[in-house]
Amino acid sequence: MTDRVLIFDTTLRDGEQSPGATMTHAEKLEIASMLDDMGVDIIEAGFPIASEGDFAAVSAIAKASRNATICGLSRANFKDIDRCWEAVKHAAKPRIHTFIGTSPLHRAIPNLTMDQMADRIHDCVTHARNLCGDVQWSSMDATRTEWDFLKRTVEIAIKAGATTINIPDTVGYTAPVESADLIRRLIAECDGADGVIFATHCHNDLGMATANALAAVEGGARQIECTINGLGERAGNTALEEVVMALKVRADIMPFHSRVDTRKIMAISRRVATVSGFPVQFNKAIVGKNAFAHESGIHQDGMLKNAETFEIMRPTDVGLTETSLVMGKHSGRAALRAKLAELGYEMADNQLADVFVRFKELADRKKEVFEEDLVALMRQNDAVEDRIRLKSLRVVCGTDGPQTADIVLTIDGTDHSASTTGDGPVDSAFNAVKALFDHNARLQLYQVHAVTEGTDAQATVSVRLEENGRIATGQSADTDTVVASTKAYINALNRLIVRREKTAPDHDTKGVHYRDASA
Ligand code: KIV
Ligand code: ZN
Repeated sequence: MTDRVLIFDTTLRDGEQSPGATMTHAEKLEIASMLDDMGVDIIEAGFPIASEGDFAAVSAIAKASRNATICGLSRANFKDIDRCWEAVKHAAKPRIHTFIGTSPLHRAIPNLTMDQMADRIHDCVTHARNLCGDVQWSSMDATRTEWDFLKRTVEIAIKAGATTINIPDTVGYTAPVESADLIRRLIAECDGADGVIFATHCHNDLGMATANALAAVEGGARQIECTINGLGERAGNTALEEVVMALKVRADIMPFHSRVDTRKIMAISRRVATVSGFPVQFNKAIVGKNAFAHESGIHQDGMLKNAETFEIMRPTDVGLTETSLVMGKHSGRAALRAKLAELGYEMADNQLADVFVRFKELADRKKEVFEEDLVALMRQNDAVEDRIRLKSLRVVCGTDGPQTADIVLTIDGTDHSASTTGDGPVDSAFNAVKALFDHNARLQLYQVHAVTEGTDAQATVSVRLEENGRIATGQSADTDTVVASTKAYINALNRLIVRREKTAPDHDTKGVHYRDASA
């Protein structure tokens, strides 16, 4: 028997907080359902006080939850805590998570003395505990907090009824030895430590988030806070897939286990990459496109003789199928449905009918359709309530420019056309969109990747737009790079329009993370 480590996923809170990673309501619900399905113990579903949208998402996730505990974040003040409880109370297993920055730099923001902060922690944890039987306390920036004061905050929180004590490395500053020692010492020296679970929450600023989280477990932590693909502010958080697979593969030296079904990792990783607009780097551990690819002759030869020569885990352990070549133009509907289910997409009949039409169009243009092509195809199925649609596009390119674009857009059901020039085909197409749908959005990011190999490969394009502090990311794929770019641009614009109508600017909700309000 090994010790169980609880997996606390914060993709929908800390992950979504990274600028540009905003997800829609439906996307958050879908990711929460996948997390619940794969055996995550606690899902931090959002920050209910941050916006009406966050509140609605946390409430809906709480109502739909099956096995996982649903947690909401709140600063250490009664108003935040009450709002958080209103959202999570619908869950079979609700949790209130409340925090304050305890390091000298963070104490200076609300300008509280140590005694005032100690009183605030006592009052807030007591208040939260009167509402909910499961309360998590976080001393934010714990790894840069003076030892005596950190110990004091932890003891107060335990005495006031906290059931989980989280020790965040908020700025990714600690190192493995220190991470283990800190937890070990807190457990050894804090009154009441044996009655609570200690959690570790690491950021990846120095690339040590996974190592620090695992070291904290060695030191006695029994909850790891993490995100899918390591999504999160700045350099991100501890990656769920990394800690879970490390515990599984190295059970020989780390006698701990989680309840996560690792075969569901790839599907959720792809889905989070799609809906957040943050692609996974090719050489990312566990979920990168190259994580199980063997290109060099020596490696391929070894792999053919015995897969263990160069592989410490099997691709199937993380949900990868043996080959990514899937289908061609003769494949039928049932095969498409089965393959999509394997990739994490459960389809209703009417959705499948639409996807099948587009699959056939793609199979006509491409000889072979790979898993990656299907994932790209599904991204276009995520259309928000689109006000703007691309009807047709013709771009003329040449060595002696300028490039011209003739475009027809359907805006709110009516067709509009424009002809514009630009510095290159993509620029001329973007100018054409602007000519028909006037806006002040600034292009923050434009990225093109080939989905597979070959000159008939689809290009998958990500576009990030910013307008008055609101950020939206759009994606699309097509065998024509300019068409993919234009569709991604329009997709980002459609999302921006939705955000304009429904939510406050990103800097209002995201900045709230570090601001403090009086209790
Ligand atoms: O990084 C951090 O300190 C946090 C806390 C709110 C737990 O995300
Ligand atoms: Zn964090």
